[in-house]
Amino acid sequence: MARPKNDQEFDIVLVGATGYTGKLTAHHIARNLPTNLKWAIAGRSRTKLDTLAEELNRISQDRLQPGIEVVDVEDTVQLTALVARAKVCISVVSYNEVGANVIEACIQSRTDYVDTAGSVTHLRGWIDKYHHAAEQGGVAIITSCGNYSAFQDLLTWLSVNELAKTSSLKTKEVIMSILRMPADPSGGTVKSMLGRTRLDPTTMQESQGPWYLSPVKGQEYVKAANVFGIRHDPILGTLSPSSFSDLQNRAVVHRTWGLLDGGNYYGRNFRYSEYNKVSSTIAGIVDILKSKGIKLMFTLPPLRVIAKMILPKPGDGPDVEKEKNAVVDMEAIALADSMDGDSSAKVHARMRFSGGPYTATAAFLAQGAASLLYTRKLERGSEGGLLTPAFLGADLVERIQGVGAELEVKVL
Ligand SMILES: NC(=O)c1ccc[n+]([C@@H]2O[C@H](COP(=O)([O-])OP(=O)(O)OC[C@H]3O[C@@H](n4cnc5c(N)ncnc54)[C@H](OP(=O)(O)O)[C@@H]3O)[C@@H](O)[C@H]2O)c1
Repeated sequence: MARPKNDQEFDIVLVGATGYTGKLTAHHIARNLPTNLKWAIAGRSRTKLDTLAEELNRISQDRLQPGIEVVDVEDTVQLTALVARAKVCISVVSYNEVGANVIEACIQSRTDYVDTAGSVTHLRGWIDKYHHAAEQGGVAIITSCGNYSAFQDLLTWLSVNELAKTSSLKTKEVIMSILRMPADPSGGTVKSMLGRTRLDPTTMQESQGPWYLSPVKGQEYVKAANVFGIRHDPILGTLSPSSFSDLQNRAVVHRTWGLLDGGNYYGRNFRYSEYNKVSSTIAGIVDILKSKGIKLMFTLPPLRVIAKMILPKPGDGPDVEKEKNAVVDMEAIALADSMDGDSSAKVHARMRFSGGPYTATAAFLAQGAASLLYTRKLERGSEGGLLTPAFLGADLVERIQGVGAELEVKVL
């Protein structure tokens, strides 16, 4: 049941516009979305919103300027009234604390939604609470649409589709190799990471399971790797299990898998595995130690104190000029589910984005919202639910290419 929402005051409302990622998203909209877009920036501080509005005016004077909406996300009546005036809502608030309020307001007012929330335990709670209502109401709630996990989810979706189109085979595994992903965090990311560790051991263990966010369970599998977890792939090279976001991305990609025909669209034996590309086994071990060190910094009480002191505070993040010159780059292989072993069909896909992770996140949020606004073609005829970036499919891929992402997909 699609929502007929034709006469809204705003096409897009950006909630949390005054934060580090929110500002980058507003800049991206001002630079790249159509100049007749009716939009609004929303946050709790009038002063911060006014400063942002001046910046946006300097970026592009020849476009409709955004409305300025003061809203405290904890005031759910005020929030729902605001969100109801828009066709699509982008949320970049601190998800762990107030993210659920924005989702609830969107479902109530039947406003499509996009965010970059990535904490799997929060996503699990949101799925349990909101998926059914969003599905019934025909509201698209697209989560994790940032550098984690949009690249990985879309690249997987593209590779699986290419394999099916060219060989009529289902996919057994997508192996993702992260070539470049700068790790400097924003203040909001640091706050989310520090908030994640207050989990009880059972929830912590469950949340690390591969099918934690999927509506159906996949096949049990053993990772193909040596004693350190390092894997050698004939095409991708030496791969280390040290990607900072591997568990989150795996859970999101597996949710896409499970939502698409109960796993039958990608294939019943499908699984997603993510690694960092390294030059040798030794380099891989060093990368594992580095990644474990960073994780400990967010877990051990004395190190958490240091992390709070030295890492960016809410509102701050990596230097924006440095961000612009950074690159996010990753490649994947999709292996066919066939009896032919190593000689079976394979697809290689690569996506490269000029701009750092937060610039990429801003692009995915804005282009994801544009996809919902102008196209709204959700995968497999879905009308709503708590969905993943892959549900925006080819339209989001084209839009992200339109703002500079380079993509290659080829059969090997
Ligand atoms: N997974 C990914 O790919 C990815 C990438 C980037 C960010 N993120 C996530 O995105 C979120 C934001 O990150 P960030 O670095 O941009 O954080 P940030 O700079 O701290 O921004 C947080 C925003 O939330 C707003 N906010 C918080 N509580 C509010 C309330 N009660 N009412 C209204 N607004 C409220 C803040 O408003 P004020 O300005 O008034 O404080 C600010 O605009 C974090 O949860 C982070 O983990 C995820």
